[in-house]
Amino acid sequence: MISGKVENALNDQIKKEAQSSQFYLAMASWAETQGYNGVASFLYAHSDEERMHMLKLIKFVNERGGKAVIPALEAPPIEFNSITYVFEELLNHEVKVTESINNVVEVCLSEKDYTTHNFMQWYVSEQIEEEALARTINDKLDMIGSDKGGLYLFDRDLESMAGSENGAA
Ligand code: FEO
Repeated sequence: MISGKVENALNDQIKKEAQSSQFYLAMASWAETQGYNGVASFLYAHSDEERMHMLKLIKFVNERGGKAVIPALEAPPIEFNSITYVFEELLNHEVKVTESINNVVEVCLSEKDYTTHNFMQWYVSEQIEEEALARTINDKLDMIGSDKGGLYLFDRDLESMAGSENGAA
């Protein structure tokens, strides 16, 4: 059985994962309209992954005697300035998600809820990977700058990474 505080922290996290999924879906859709099909595939897959993160939390809360709250979501942006901007935003967003995961872990410890603490370790590891991936992508984009040929290859690269993202999820 989870305490009210743990339940609230997990429900906040459910909202963050849902919001992440929406945000990346908006990025994917925008990239598709710009002709970046590889970037779009990667972001569609990433959006699905965030939905999976949300579902895992929903099921856990309900299994542990709490009630998962399916949240209302703010509409994400429709337009993004550039591919570079998209991935900067993605990294900033993941850093905030990591802070929020750490907050859940802190609540678990203060409530002496070691079961939820254990469950949350999967998210802690996942955030290390997600931040590292986002940083790698940002570094690549820094090197490419405004080189059109480089962006074309980058788009193809992300197409193949989209496949491995799916596998990882
Ligand atoms: Fe579910 Fe990308 O954090």
